[in-house]
Amino acid sequence: MSGVQEKVGERSATNAEWQVRRETAIARGISSVAPVYIDRALNAEMWDVENKRYVDFASGIAVCNTGHSNPKVLAAVQAQLERFSHTCAIVTPYANMVELAEKLNHLVPGDTTKKTVFVTTGAEAVENSVKIARAHTGRRGVIAFSGGFHGRTMLAMGLTGKVTPYKNLFGPLPGDIYHVPFPIDYHGISTQDSLEALHALFKVSIEPRDVAAIIIEPVQGEGGFYAAPDSFLQALRKVCDDHDILLIMDEIQSGFGRTGKFFASEYAEVEADLVTVAKGVAGGFPLAAVVGKADIMDAPLPSGLGGTYSGSPIGCAAALAVIEVIQQENLVERANEIGVLFNKRLVELQKKYPSIIGSLRTDRGAMIAMELVIDGDPAKPDPNLTNALVGEAYKRGLVLLSCGFRGNVIRFLPALTISDELANEGLDRLAECFAAML
Ligand SMILES: Cc1ncc(COP(=O)(O)O)c(C=O)c1O
Repeated sequence: MSGVQEKVGERSATNAEWQVRRETAIARGISSVAPVYIDRALNAEMWDVENKRYVDFASGIAVCNTGHSNPKVLAAVQAQLERFSHTCAIVTPYANMVELAEKLNHLVPGDTTKKTVFVTTGAEAVENSVKIARAHTGRRGVIAFSGGFHGRTMLAMGLTGKVTPYKNLFGPLPGDIYHVPFPIDYHGISTQDSLEALHALFKVSIEPRDVAAIIIEPVQGEGGFYAAPDSFLQALRKVCDDHDILLIMDEIQSGFGRTGKFFASEYAEVEADLVTVAKGVAGGFPLAAVVGKADIMDAPLPSGLGGTYSGSPIGCAAALAVIEVIQQENLVERANEIGVLFNKRLVELQKKYPSIIGSLRTDRGAMIAMELVIDGDPAKPDPNLTNALVGEAYKRGLVLLSCGFRGNVIRFLPALTISDELANEGLDRLAECFAAML
C-alpha cells in the first residue's frame, strides 16, 4: 500500500478508533472536551472523520474569530509560505513582523507610544509581560485574581487563580505571586470587596513598593466569563498610578473584536501599561505578543526576550490578514450583533428554565455565557448538568465549551463571521439539548 493510501485509510477510521489510539499515544494531561476528530472546518462549521457536521460555538477557544479557513487569511499564509517559512527573527528579521508590530502598537488602547515583542503562545506572552514589568520596576511581586487564567507554564500557572487541575501536583510554585478576589456581583463580591482585599494584601503580605505588576483579564475567560466592572478597572489603574505598579491587561481571550470592542479594556477606557495578546491575533496560527508603553517595553536588555519561533513570519502574515478582515468586514460591530442575537434566544431559554439558568452574560459582544445552578441559587452550581449538556450538544452536532471556577458555565464563542442562520441553528440545537436533558 502506498503512503498516500495508508493515510486515506487512517483518516477513514472512526472517532472511536482514533480515541483508542490517542489514549495509547498521548498522555492524559492533555485532555479534550469530546472524542470528536475533526477532518475539515469552514467558517463556523466543522466535519469530523465520520463526516458528521457540527455548528461550532467554540472557534478553537476564541482563536478563529475570523472563521475557520478564512480565505483571506489562508491566501496570506500561502503567499508567505511560498517566500519562506522561518529564518528566526533573532538571526535575520523580516518586514511583516515590523508591519504587524506597528499595527498592534496602534490598535492597543491608549495614547502613549507603544512597542511590541512577539512570542508564540499566550502563556509565553504572560511570562514575558512579568519579566518586562520586573525589569522595568526592579520589583518582585505580582498580584493576580482568583479564578483568573493565564496559562500552564510555571509562572503563568502560578498566576492562574485555580488549583485543580492547573496547579496541584506541579509544586513548588513560583514565589512572590498573590491573589485577590475578582469582583463578581452574582457571587456577592463587589468592587469594594475586591479593593479592600487588595489593600489588606498590602498590609498583610507585600508592600505596594515591592509590587511590580497587577495582572487582570478584563473579562475572565476560563474563570467563567465575568466582566470586571469598569469602575474596578479604573480603580486598579489609580492604585497602580499611586504606587508606580504596572497594570497588565491579559486580553488573550477577550481581544481581537471578541467582546464588541477591539480590546475589552476599551469598555473601561483604561490604558494598561502592558497588554498580552494571543489566540485571535493570528486566526489559528501560533503567535502571541506583549504590547506596551515603549519605555517600559525597552527595560529588558537585548536578547533578554524572544525565542526560536517568536514572531514567526507565517503567524505575522496571518495576523496582518486577520486584522484586515476584522476591519474591512466590521467584525467588531458584528460581535455586538451576535451578542444581541444570542441574548434574545438565551433569554427565551432562561424563561423556560428560570431555576437552572441562574445568570446570562450577554453584554460583551460575542463573549457570551450562561451559568447553571440548582434552585436558582448562585451558591449551588450545577457542574454535572453543565457537563451533560455539553456532551449532549456534541451528539446533536453542536460544539460547546464549558468553563468557570465552579465548572458550571457554558460559554459561547462563535466566529464573528457566523451567519444569523447558522447561529440560530446552533441555538436551536442548544434548546433541543435542554429539552432532552430536563
Ligand atoms: C486569558 C488567558 N490568558 C492566557 C492564556 C494562555 O494561552 P495559551 O493557551 O496560548 O498558552 C489563555 C488561554 O486560554 C487565556 O484565556
